[in-house]
Amino acid sequence: MIKNEIILSMAPVRGITDAVYRKSFAHCFSGFDYAIAPFIQLRQGHSLRLGERLQMSIENNREIRMIPQVLTNHAPTFTAGLRELHELGHDEVNWNLGCPYPTVAGRGRGAGLLPHPDRIDAILNQVLNRCPVRLSVKLRLGYGDPDEFQAVFKVLNRYPLAEVILHSRTADQMYGGSVDLERAALAKTLCMHPFVFNGNITSPDKFCELRARLPDVDRWMLGRGALICPSLPAVIKGGELPAPEKRRSQLREFHDLLFEGYRNMLSGPSHLLDKMKGHWEYMALSFAEPGTVLNRICDSHSPEAYAKSAYWIFSQPLSR
Ligand SMILES: Cc1cc2nc3c(=O)[nH]c(=O)nc-3n(C[C@H](O)[C@H](O)[C@H](O)COP(=O)(O)O)c2cc1C
Repeated sequence: MIKNEIILSMAPVRGITDAVYRKSFAHCFSGFDYAIAPFIQLRQGHSLRLGERLQMSIENNREIRMIPQVLTNHAPTFTAGLRELHELGHDEVNWNLGCPYPTVAGRGRGAGLLPHPDRIDAILNQVLNRCPVRLSVKLRLGYGDPDEFQAVFKVLNRYPLAEVILHSRTADQMYGGSVDLERAALAKTLCMHPFVFNGNITSPDKFCELRARLPDVDRWMLGRGALICPSLPAVIKGGELPAPEKRRSQLREFHDLLFEGYRNMLSGPSHLLDKMKGHWEYMALSFAEPGTVLNRICDSHSPEAYAKSAYWIFSQPLSR
C-alpha cells in the first residue's frame, strides 16, 4: 500500500501520548509526520506549570515535531498561553474544541463551545489579532447536535488557521459508537483550511475503507489504533507489517524505553506502576490474550514484580 502523499499525525491522548511516549515511539516506529500533544488547561492569571513547560520544551521533543494543544475559553488567558508557548520555541498551537468531559464541556470549554459559534468567533477575533504563532483547531461534530459544526466552520473559515482536525463524533458519544462519515465528507467540503480526519482508524483495511469514502482528504490523525498497534502509521504509509517476532521485539524495546523514561521522571513506585498500567490498557490488545496480560500487570505491586510480569508477557503470542 503506497500512500506517500498522505500526512499522518499522532492524536493527543491525555495520560498516554506525553513527551516520554512520543520520544520512545519515534525511536522504535515511524510513519507519523507530527504529533499534537495532549491539552494543557490554561489558567487565568497563571503561567504554565513546571511539568507543563518540561512536556512542551523543544529539548524534550526533538524526535518528532510536536504541536502543543491548549484548552481555554478566555481570550486574554489564551493570548498569554500562546505567548508563553512561542517563547518556548513553538510556532504552532492547537486549540481544543473537542474535550467532552462534563467538568470541561459543561463549563463552556472544549466541546462545550461548539453550540456557541459566536463565542468562538469573539475568542478567535481577540486572539488572532496579534498572535505570535499559527493556530489550528481540533473539534467534534457538535456537543449534542451533530450539525453544530456547520455554523462553527463558517466562523473558522474567516480566520487564517493552520488546519482543522475533525473527530467525527459528537461529545455525547464520548469515544464510542460509530464515526459519522457523511458529515465528515460534508465538513471537508465546507472547510477552507487544510482538513484532517480523525476517528477509528484501527487497521490498514479500515484506512483504505475510510479513504474510499473520503477521497479528497489527505491528512489523517490516528489515536487508539496506533496505541494498540504502533506499526500502523508506517504500514499505512506503505511499509510491511513486520513478522510477529520482529513486532514483539519492537514492542518490547518500546516498552522498555517507556519504563526507563518514566522511572527517570516520576517519583515513587506507585506513580510509575500507575503510569505503565495506563499504557497496558492499549498495549495488552496487541497480545492474543489481553485479559491475562492486564491481570498480570494489575497484580504487580512493585517495580520488581512488574519487571517479572513484563518479561513473561513478552514471551506470549501476539494477537495477529
Ligand atoms: C483517554 C483519551 C484521552 C484523550 N485526550 C485528548 C486530548 O488531550 N486532546 C484531544 O484533542 N483529544 C483527546 N482525545 C481524543 C483523541 O485525540 C481522538 O480524537 C479520539 O480518540 C478519536 O480518535 P481514535 O479513534 O483514533 O482514537 C483523547 C482520547 C482518549 C481515549
